[in-house]
Amino acid sequence: MVEATPMHFFESVPADSGLTDRFGRQLTYLRISVTDRCNMRCDYCRPAPDAYKAEPHDQILRYEEIERIVRVAADLGVNKLRITGGEPLVRRDLAVLVKKLASVPGITDLSMTTNATLLGKYAADMAKAGLQRINISLDSLNALRFRKLTGGELAPVLAGIKAARAAGIGPIKLNTVLMRGINAGGEHSEVAELIDFAGENDATIRFIELMPMKQGMDWDHHYISIDDVLQRDDVRARVEVDAVLKTGNTAARYLPLKSGKGEVGFIMPMSERFCEGCNRLRLTSDGGLRSCLPADHQLNLRDLIRGGGSDDDIRAVFLRSAMIKPEIGLYDFEADSEKRSMIHIGG
Ligand code: GTP
Ligand code: 5AD
Ligand code: SF4
Repeated sequence: MVEATPMHFFESVPADSGLTDRFGRQLTYLRISVTDRCNMRCDYCRPAPDAYKAEPHDQILRYEEIERIVRVAADLGVNKLRITGGEPLVRRDLAVLVKKLASVPGITDLSMTTNATLLGKYAADMAKAGLQRINISLDSLNALRFRKLTGGELAPVLAGIKAARAAGIGPIKLNTVLMRGINAGGEHSEVAELIDFAGENDATIRFIELMPMKQGMDWDHHYISIDDVLQRDDVRARVEVDAVLKTGNTAARYLPLKSGKGEVGFIMPMSERFCEGCNRLRLTSDGGLRSCLPADHQLNLRDLIRGGGSDDDIRAVFLRSAMIKPEIGLYDFEADSEKRSMIHIGG
């Protein structure tokens, strides 16, 4: 549901409130999707071809519009930004946006989530523009399997990881979505190999439980819990599975590696909710402000801005978004027609 914000709401909002929701959570992290286009087509992210249509360019926020929204958000206490997609690096002149966002007063953490295919070309530009950190999707180290799942090639991704390191963007995190029968479960499991790869490449790997978004993949068939993965002998040989999970106000929980060199992360949206410490808001590429990833409810900032809305009006939409943020994000298994896909929201 995309809601036009009722104008009468704007009159009742104090200008100097921070972004605290009804449950006392401070919202300081804004994830910004800059495009719903992608040069890959991962089955867990993108809906089946007949259900997927990229938004026309004029529906997508312009860089000046994103910058304006971020300035208001920063005024309200947002200090952490993550650029997402689709694939953010397919958007033209992304370095221009990165530079603009890096210079917004109050922003202390500027990062990106990418499939890394274009990092060989752009890592140095990104670093120069002020990108501090990067998270990279890597679901398989097997080139054939990688191609089948993503429609893309593994080699440029591996080159992209190297390019990010060479450009001094760091720390680097790798994200692996776990899918039974693809990269997890029985003889399909690549978990141990991926942990070793991360260690060899100076990166931290996080394993993510598959979420039932609107996508081209059968969730019932492919979902596997982190708990299942932690029972494996090859994983127990590498990870201190009995240690206390390290938590923070990020989505990931961490366990130490037995090698003593770093840790491995787990993002468990399905089996262990991390909503209690959630500090996130999301801006979709077409200007929707979402307060919760799975809750299909967003406020329309694009139409507000293009209709002549003031910064105070934008501020009011942020405050309203905080106010309607649910205590817990629920995955509604029935309401498929209403659901949006990750490629639209940016993870
Ligand atoms: P760090 O700041 O480096 O910890 O990044 P991050 O984990 O916030 O960002 P990243 O884009 O790497 O997130 C990895 C994945 O975790 C996302 O793509 C989502 O799949 C999942 N995730 C992140 N935040 C949330 C959330 O609020 N709810 C749910 N359900 N999943 C989330
Ligand atoms: N379940 C879990 N994570 C997902 N992502 C995308 N779709 C899903 C899904 N259905 C995450 C992955 C990817 C990032 C862009 O979004 O971490 O790396
Ligand atoms: Fe593209 Fe990333 Fe989605 Fe894959 S997960 S289709 S690389 S946006």
